[in-house]
Amino acid sequence: MSELLGPALVQREVDDSSLEELHADAASCRRCDLYSGATQIVFGEGPKTAEVVFVGEQPGDKEDLAGRPFVGPAGKLLDRCLEEAGIERNHCYLTNAVKHFKFEPRGKRRIHAKPNKGEIKVCAWWLAAELRLVRPKLVVALGATAAYSLLGSHVKVTRDRGSVLRPPIGPPVFITIHPSSLLRIFDQPTGGRAVARFVDEMRRVRAFLER
Ligand code: URA
Repeated sequence: MSELLGPALVQREVDDSSLEELHADAASCRRCDLYSGATQIVFGEGPKTAEVVFVGEQPGDKEDLAGRPFVGPAGKLLDRCLEEAGIERNHCYLTNAVKHFKFEPRGKRRIHAKPNKGEIKVCAWWLAAELRLVRPKLVVALGATAAYSLLGSHVKVTRDRGSVLRPPIGPPVFITIHPSSLLRIFDQPTGGRAVARFVDEMRRVRAFLER
């Protein structure tokens, strides 16, 4: 395998169903065990004509209940940043590397648990299918899980953040952080600067799309 190629771009040979058919098929996915704890699949959302696909890690608690990606706190922050950068969320396709919520139960709460490489690899089948249908000009990897799924383990978000990486097959991939990391520092003195940096990256995404 090439050094810059993750499971979601390797597995691009899928049939040509519509996004709706794909979503319906994914609803009964048993490729890994994560379906058993989750409420439902959280598939990608957005127009098939989108020029940009944003890939997060996995749905959170709110997304799991709503059945839609990026509707919880990290999604709301992402919405604000996109708006500030002049990107219309409705024109984008938003999805995740892993389509079911993985969590540890703690009392009545469900605490986010990181998906492992095996879960990311099997779920990459769906991301590959989404990318094949949408055929975006650019994919934005939000955080390490998305970067791994798209480009493999040679990518390091801390090192490659802000770069557009070009795998041998598939669309170019812009590397950035996951917006949930901004939520954690939002109230700290450095929070404002960190959000401004992320908004600036979203402006660069917009500039790439307008080229
Ligand atoms: N975080 C993600 O990575 N994806 C979502 O859909 C929501 C939060």
